[in-house]
Amino acid sequence: MKISKAVYVASSVSAASKPSPAKTEFAFIGRSNVGKSSLINCLTGNSSLAHTSSKPGKTQCINHFLINDSWYLVDLPGYGYAKMSKQRREGLATMINDYIDNSLELALLFVLLDSRHDLLKIDLDFLISLGEKGVPFAIVLTKCDKLGPNALAARVESMKSAIGEYWEPLPLIFTTSAERGTGKDDVLDYIGQVLKDLETNNQQIQ
Ligand code: GTP
Ligand code: MG
Repeated sequence: MKISKAVYVASSVSAASKPSPAKTEFAFIGRSNVGKSSLINCLTGNSSLAHTSSKPGKTQCINHFLINDSWYLVDLPGYGYAKMSKQRREGLATMINDYIDNSLELALLFVLLDSRHDLLKIDLDFLISLGEKGVPFAIVLTKCDKLGPNALAARVESMKSAIGEYWEPLPLIFTTSAERGTGKDDVLDYIGQVLKDLETNNQQIQ
């Protein structure tokens, strides 16, 4: 899959106020600061498309980017930022859950996990909630440039065994670095494959 055009369309605060017409969506979720917006910029080859920050809590809305005039990449706010007010944190959690629960166009949710940490309870709980809702997801390990090859291989194995306790078969796990572009083609090729499958099944939202 090649991205030849990526355009910011809209920021919304609920699934009901998403841009129309509806189109197939691939969304990015994970803890604040895990690298969601950076990964979208990496995939689209446009470093200023989604706003990023070294401080957690940057993305506060549901942001739609129209890709190749045909489908959306969706940047979501992060969950679990402890230093945000409880009210704001709960507001964002409600926004995220509303988006997930009410987005019929959502083809796949990429759940981003920081490759520097083992699976955290907050991420496991989130993954379990997706499983209960039957939301299709794939896992993306981010910031892999921060680990050496051996440490990264060990992290992938420990993630597989932690996640494997709950999922059989294992969900897909991509290893990425938005900084270096690592894993970009793997993620894009997978998106291309999902789009093709939807087209074959005639399910793609036009
Ligand atoms: P929120 O919108 O606050 O939830 O954060 P986010 O998940 O969108 O993270 P964002 O893309 O804003 O990145 C957070 C910080 O991590 C920024 O300082 C990025 O430069 C850095 N970062 C993101 N991806 C990578 C990566 O692959 N490698 C390295 N070294 N840093 C990264
Ligand atoms: Mg962001």
